Parts: sequence; C-alpha cells; structure tokens
Amino acid sequence: MAKITKLDDIVSLCKRRGFIFQSSEIYGGLASCYDYGPLGVELKNNVKKAWWKSVVQMRDNIVGLDCSILMHPLVWKASGHTDKFADLIAECKKCNVRTRVDHLKEHAEEHTEHISIDSATADAQDLSNKVCPNCGTIGQFTKPMPFKLMFETQMGANVDDSMTLYMRPETAQGIFANFRNVLDTTRVKIPFGIAQIGKSFRNEVTTKAFIFRTREFEQAELEFFCEPGTDEKWYEHWRQARFDWYINLGLKKENLRFREHEGNELAHYAKACVDIEYRFPFGSGDWQELEGIANRTDYDLRQHQRGMRTVNKWLENDRNLTNIELADEAEDFQKGPLSYFDDEQKKHYIPYVIEPSAGIDRSALAFLVDVYDEEIVRGEQRNLLRFHPALAPIKVGVFPLVKKDGMPEIARNIYDDLKKHFNCFYDEKSAIGRRYRRQDEAGTPFCVTVDGQTKEDNTVTVRDRDSMEQVRVSTDQLLSHLREKLEA
Ligand code: GAP
Repeated sequence: MAKITKLDDIVSLCKRRGFIFQSSEIYGGLASCYDYGPLGVELKNNVKKAWWKSVVQMRDNIVGLDCSILMHPLVWKASGHTDKFADLIAECKKCNVRTRVDHLKEHAEEHTEHISIDSATADAQDLSNKVCPNCGTIGQFTKPMPFKLMFETQMGANVDDSMTLYMRPETAQGIFANFRNVLDTTRVKIPFGIAQIGKSFRNEVTTKAFIFRTREFEQAELEFFCEPGTDEKWYEHWRQARFDWYINLGLKKENLRFREHEGNELAHYAKACVDIEYRFPFGSGDWQELEGIANRTDYDLRQHQRGMRTVNKWLENDRNLTNIELADEAEDFQKGPLSYFDDEQKKHYIPYVIEPSAGIDRSALAFLVDVYDEEIVRGEQRNLLRFHPALAPIKVGVFPLVKKDGMPEIARNIYDDLKKHFNCFYDEKSAIGRRYRRQDEAGTPFCVTVDGQTKEDNTVTVRDRDSMEQVRVSTDQLLSHLREKLEA
C-alpha cells in the first residue's frame, strides 16, 4: 500500500540522490536558498517544459516573453508594489523573533501568500491571545508594523547616476510593461495571452518547508488579455485548465482542491482570485497554495499608463521614488498608449487580465511528494518515485546484465542511439537489482537490459518501474516501443 509521505523523507531523498541541495552548504548553508542537483535540474526543466507546452505551444493565441529581472523603478510604483507589497509583522518581546501577523492566529499554519496590509491591519487589532511560534509566549508582541518584501539593490557605479532598483517580486510586470511591444510586433488579437517563466525574489518573513517558500524562486505566469465583460468566462476557463494540468501530470485528485479568496484577502489588484491548493505533508498535513488564478481587471495597464505620465516628475526628482505620487489618470485613458484597438468593433479599450500564476519550485515539490512511494519487495524496502514520464528526470536506464561477453558494447550502442531522443542513463556498475533500485529512486520509468539472449535474437528486456514487469522487445522496435510508452 502506498505510504503517507513525510517531508523529511523527501528532503533526505533529494539530498541523497542529487535532486536538491542546501545553497552554499560547504559554508554552513544559506537559509531558504536551494540548489538543484543533476536530477533536480532535469525535473525542474521538465516542469517548465510541461507548463510551456500546455500554456504556449499548444495554444494559437499565447506568445512567450523573457524579461529582465531588474526593471525601471516606476514599474513597481505603478504596480503598487513599492507602497503595498509588505507583510504586517509583530516581534515577540521575549525572543525577538518577528512573525507575520496573519500567521500568528494559526501558529504558522497559514493558507495565504500575502494578504493586503490594510486587511491585515484591520484583523490585527488584538494580539493578546496570539502565540509566538518560536518560543510559545502568549500575547507578548510589539505593535504590528509593515515589513517590505522587495529586495533592493543599487545600479550604477557613479554616485550621481546610481539608483535604487528592486529585484522583481513577480514576473507579471515585465509582461504588462511589454504589452505594447507585443501588440506592435505580432499579430495577436484579443483574447490573447503573454506567458513567462522566470525568477522572482521576495524577502519573506517566514520561509519554510524546504522549497515551498523561499526568498528566490521561479514563477510561471500567464497574463491573458480579454475584453471587459468576457473576463469572468475566461477566469472560469483558466481555473479549470490549470487544475487539469496538475491532474494530467499525475497529481492525485484527492490531494488538490480550489479555494476561493475572501474579499478581505484579495491582493490590491484583484477582483477575484482562486488558489489551487495541494495537501502538502508538513505542519498538520494542511492544504497550501500551489498556484493562484486572479482576475486582475484592467488595473495594471491603467496603472502603467499613469506610470508613463510620471516619468518627467521622476527625472526632476533626481530619479528618486521618495515623495513621488503617480500622475492622475488621463481623462481619455481608454485610448491611452496601453489600450487595445478592436478592429471589428472600431473601439479602444483597456483589456481585462486573467492571470494564472504558478510556482515552479512549489510544483516540483508537489510532484515529488505526490509520487514518492515505499514498498517491500521480497523482504527489502524499495523506494520509488512514480513520476509521469514527461516529468521523469531520466526516461530510460540502459544496462548490460554483466560486464562481459560483449554485452557492454551492445548496451552502449543502444544507449548512444536512444540518448538522441530521450534523457538516458548508462550504468554497468554493481548487481542488476541494485541498478534497478537506483533508477526506481530516481523515478526512471523504463530500464533496458542487454543479456545473454540479446546476441542470439536481438532482443532486450524493458522493465517497467511501477509494475517491475519485464517484456522482451527486439532492438529494432525498441525506440518506437519506448516512444509509445513515454509519449502516451
Ligand atoms: N503575479 C501574482 C503572484 O505573484 P502570488 O500568489 O504571490 O501571485 C504566485 O505567487 C505563485 O508563486 C504562488 O502560488 C506560489 O506557487 C509561488 N510563490 C510565491 N511566493 C513564493 C515563495 N516565496 N517561494 C516559492 N514559491 C512562491
């Protein structure tokens, strides 16, 4: 029977098999930063490929972008991040540990990413019954204060022209800032989407649970532009499409659910938002956000039109954001530089935006947790990762049964052939059973073994990871046999 996975099992497997390491481990590690090892980078790339294939490649009306992490500071003023992207924190007077106020209620078992400061402030009047998750002291907190989540950095060597920039806290704004460029250089027509995968940075107050919440992470975001009035239809479309994506890649349905945001929980830009939650195995096995799908309305494009009108003021202010207010919205903002002209209806408007926003690291963790299994086979424990073939870091292991009688040469030839098509792994060391176990633990769906019979009839065995069953396949049918199984 499948085992209930513990996060510790996953962390230990990830380290042992080279999926994920602590960053800067040789120096004692850097909190909440992780490095992906040889198997981990394949898994993560496969998650990204699967997302790109489903969101961009398989759709005619979605194009991609890859924007820089550092952007003009006014981007973040216009988007609202410089003023509003903060967590409300309180410091325990006994141990001096700072905690997000919205995490205090439930002793660090939270459901939300970042709730608006305004709503957190309203909810945070009384901390007298709240427990410090670090030392357990009750009700001994400082007055709640905002803690800004964007990392700052300086650009430029000269004092005169250096300026403060922010590491982007979401990839979305690069898409909004390029909306006009995409409209002018492609043939997209509304409804259409712009997709991007890339790193984001947040100086999170509480990091936790391995790669679940880190300060540097990767997001896969789609901004889907549609005509106002059709937004609710597209919101429904994307919430289902994104849910199905996880199911189609093998996540168990019973571990996934939707959670609609309450009004006071909505981000400052959203009219509606739903989380796809996964039952992660930490804390009390609680549901946690995997991805958010938001109706961002026309907020961002309208704000960037105001940002564009603020540039001169910013230049006059020595390129400093301090004490700068965004310019008012133009009266004819619907015809502004970031509007869309509908040829058929002969009208300008600012499109509405539906945004599915997924975390690549968090998805990778969910896939790892969901497929981890332990079973007893002939008195021995077998650990395995039952990855969907599209996600498996290695698709095919190729082995000679023994290291003699010409078997390694034949196996090498097969490996050289197959690796043109899939990520393969050749192994001739140790007993065949151990080699199978190593591939089971790496999540490799198939292992091909050259044995004594191969020389006689040109067949090899193909072993299935999940059932451990083996079938004989002729070498000239091997590629199509594997293709059929891996691409099913
Ligand atoms: N553009 C909208 C946006 O960024 P979000 O809910 O803050 O929305 C979207 O983030 C997704 O990014 C989350 O559902 C999560 O998967 C991932 N994410 C956010 N913060 C993260 C963090 N600190 N570490 C890992 N993943 C994170």
